[in-house]
Amino acid sequence: MAVAGSAIGLANIWRFPYLVGKNGGAAFILVYIFFLALIGFPVLVAEIAIGRKTLLNPSGALRKLGGPLWSSGGKLMILTGFLVSSFYSVVAGWILGYFIEALQGNVSNFTSTIEAQNTFLSLIASPYWGLCFHFLFLLFCAAVLYLGVREGIEKGTKIMMPILFVVLILLVIKGISLDNSSDAITFLLSPDWSVLTKGAILAALGQAFFTLSLGQGTMITYGSYLSKKESIIKTCIPVILMDLVVSLLAAVAVFTIAFSVGIQPDSGPGLIFHTLPWVFSQLSGGYLIAVAFFLLVLLAAMTSEISALEPLIAYLCDEKGFSRHKAVMWAATGAFITGIPSALSYGILKNWTIDSMPILDFMDYLCSSILIPIGGLLAVAFVGWRWKVSNAIQEIKVGSLESFEKHRWLTPYFKISFQFGAPIFIILILMNALGLFG
Ligand code: PHE
Repeated sequence: MAVAGSAIGLANIWRFPYLVGKNGGAAFILVYIFFLALIGFPVLVAEIAIGRKTLLNPSGALRKLGGPLWSSGGKLMILTGFLVSSFYSVVAGWILGYFIEALQGNVSNFTSTIEAQNTFLSLIASPYWGLCFHFLFLLFCAAVLYLGVREGIEKGTKIMMPILFVVLILLVIKGISLDNSSDAITFLLSPDWSVLTKGAILAALGQAFFTLSLGQGTMITYGSYLSKKESIIKTCIPVILMDLVVSLLAAVAVFTIAFSVGIQPDSGPGLIFHTLPWVFSQLSGGYLIAVAFFLLVLLAAMTSEISALEPLIAYLCDEKGFSRHKAVMWAATGAFITGIPSALSYGILKNWTIDSMPILDFMDYLCSSILIPIGGLLAVAFVGWRWKVSNAIQEIKVGSLESFEKHRWLTPYFKISFQFGAPIFIILILMNALGLFG
């Protein structure tokens, strides 16, 4: 459940719909599913197996199985997770802010789409609003981390996830009943390959990794908390399916709703912040739906943020001898400070762009298109070539023997994916990102 809680988060509800909107609807979805099955699944299994074998943080785990050089790869993953936690918390802070606005009835009484958009733009431009909620969100996450992983995260997730599903399904039903919903469904079902650029393919891989919390030590760390009795296969497959279903439902909900009020699907990261509030304003019971929606996205974001911080915390405890409480304080404070430029990037720092991206967008791009694929490549290449596939498969079989006996293809599938499939794909895509194919 903690793994599912880590996977299901803003990437599904906030990021997936706008990426789909920007990158040609169904074409993007198909490429994304392909990456999820052929790269996401083996990398997820590889990371969990590394963690469960060593019972250590990513750096310690790779050192134990592969030596000091690999341990630096583990440190890179921890750094990536930390950077993710810093900007993720900014967007999650916006969600927290919107939840408070929703409670006050401020996001369910817009009279025009422009008003909804302007409210969003003026809120995120305000340095106090952005920083205050970035801080508060991290404070809540630190409180849960302080209490411990099993008690806080696992128990919470078991209650929050089913509710998230119910609310999403209600939103989908509402969306489908609105005008023009068939246009939205057509957009999601008919692939337009012409808008699928190289950048979009890279984004699909980045999204598959990001949504499964790969390439940044999270799953190695969570794997180290997994009992030897549990089946890694039976943990991973339901997580991937749940994650995909949540993303698809979120896309259907957001697009049917967006099309019904004439908002273009490519309106970018603000989609759930102004599209949905505008629609909530049109619906009877909009107040309650708005409160429920932002609360649930908030909870989903919390279980993910916590998992992004956990590798650094585990590292500080394992390797630097910190107490858990001290490690939590350092990690959360560091994430807050590192996230400040992102929190101000649509306000007072809006003229500071990197490669014409605001700082928040740049951090997102840097992590999900470059650092995360590199982390995923390190994990899978490590399993395929350093730790050796046979050792990894032996570890995966612990608790999963039944699945391997029933599905004979699993062994060759993992062998090929760990050694060739996943690494080659990731390398090609990274080379493409660096412009080596012209
Ligand atoms: N998987 C999370 C999401 O979909 C994001 C995340 C990334 C969480 C990395 C932890 C680590 O929102």
